[in-house]
Amino acid sequence: MRSLLPLCLTAFLSLAACTKKNANEIVVGQFGSMTGSEATFGISTDEGVKLAIDEANAAGGINGKKIKLVTMDNQGKAEEAAAVVTRLIEQEKIVALLGEVASSRSLAAAPIAQGRKIPMITPSSTNPKVTEVGDYVFRVCFIDPFQGTVMAKFATENLKLKKVAILRDMKSDYSVGLADFFKQKYVELGGTIVAEQTYQSGDVDFKAQLTQIKSKNPDGLYIPGYYTEVGLIARQVRELGIKAIMMGGDGWDSSKLSEIGQDAVNGSYFSNHYSSESTDPAAVDFMNKFKARYNKTPDGLSAMGYDAALVLIHAMKNAKEITPKAIRDELAKIKDFQAATGKITIDEKRNASKNAVVVQVQGAVNKYVTTINP
Ligand code: PHE
Repeated sequence: MRSLLPLCLTAFLSLAACTKKNANEIVVGQFGSMTGSEATFGISTDEGVKLAIDEANAAGGINGKKIKLVTMDNQGKAEEAAAVVTRLIEQEKIVALLGEVASSRSLAAAPIAQGRKIPMITPSSTNPKVTEVGDYVFRVCFIDPFQGTVMAKFATENLKLKKVAILRDMKSDYSVGLADFFKQKYVELGGTIVAEQTYQSGDVDFKAQLTQIKSKNPDGLYIPGYYTEVGLIARQVRELGIKAIMMGGDGWDSSKLSEIGQDAVNGSYFSNHYSSESTDPAAVDFMNKFKARYNKTPDGLSAMGYDAALVLIHAMKNAKEITPKAIRDELAKIKDFQAATGKITIDEKRNASKNAVVVQVQGAVNKYVTTINP
């Protein structure tokens, strides 16, 4: 009897080991905000990622091996992002990591991926600091010095705005950085910043800041935040009778923006990675596949998630062996790779240089306005 126990235990442990490490599988990790006030970011990205991975697996995988995606929710919290990424690396033995959307959470996880030498690709974190963490950290999107320039130019040249106020989220690396980049360019182009106010993610009452802003009578209001707060801010802007044209960045991209902001967000503009009105064949192909599977139009997050996964799959196919190091080296070589949101070339700083679009909110639809090149 007594000798049976270690035997069972060994059998059990090796079985557990088998399920963890299947020689015919390549395990890729993903971390994202699947719940919380930025849940659409994580969910939309995951839908795009899964589409790309399932397509690759259906087409034979990587040299006959199937890709297994393990996704962990960080609830929109930076500390959780660090915790789940550690778990993905230590327990799931991932060879590569996809995520995050929000720059602050990518920044919390990147030092862990870098330290463990696991290649990480963020689909859509735009703060410059993210890829500066080290040579294992990549992105497939543009960065915020460009995104800030895009809206500063649009405000000046298209909207002819002379006096702009800025309202930024002090808790978000993305928001703080993008506000600075916008301001720098807007002032350089001759505009005046008449007020600068701050809030913190999670806030619901912005009346004090908006009252200050109103007293300066701006004709434009730049709010580089995420959709939950932006929706609430927009309503309070109009409740206070502020007429300024509202503008923002990619953080506005969510089907929830118009649900939360209702009529107040209509007519506002934001910069983004992609427009669902694109007629580019690669984008149209992606949209058709996405619609067939999910029965809805993909947002920018889904497109970027799809592209991040495509780039990773491409690198794994080219890698001599499926090791984090070999995958990293192939990621660094990505050049003119045709993805849904455009051609991707990874530069020496592991960023991608891409176009941006400006869209206008019209109810649940974000109407394409213009494309701006880097
Ligand atoms: N660019 C944002 C950031 O870095 C995240 C984001 C990307 C949000 C795309 C929405 C759409 O934090």
